[in-house]
Amino acid sequence: MTVIGQLSSVIVRSYHGSVEDFVKAAKLDDIPPGRMIGVRIGDEEVALYNVGGRIYATRDVCTHQYFPLSKGELRGCVVTCALHQWRYDVTTGANLERPEIHVRRYEVRVDGPSVLVRLVPLPPPEPPKFVSRDDA
Ligand code: FES
Repeated sequence: MTVIGQLSSVIVRSYHGSVEDFVKAAKLDDIPPGRMIGVRIGDEEVALYNVGGRIYATRDVCTHQYFPLSKGELRGCVVTCALHQWRYDVTTGANLERPEIHVRRYEVRVDGPSVLVRLVPLPPPEPPKFVSRDDA
């Protein structure tokens, strides 16, 4: 394999990850629909959310003053921090009031009764597209 081939295989692997990169984070039964829990994986605090039967993971740290998001409230796909009510879309990590801010997200897999998380941050959300009144 050429150097470029080896390099591209490393890049593809680092983005998509491998099965070994996922670690067990929780039991699926511990996160019923509409609920969230906080777990510790190594040195990282992770919040797991069940949004309509699909599991999402973010860092369990509000970007404002570092309060655990899992202590807040989950409504639909929006978690509201209990301390000062900053809100995040857990499916994208985007802060709903401050588009330039996001919370780190992680890839999740469900394997039978287990929820697995890969502790490599997913790309940040797309910045919002602003529409000029001239475009409306
Ligand atoms: S610490 Fe979360 S809103 Fe202030």
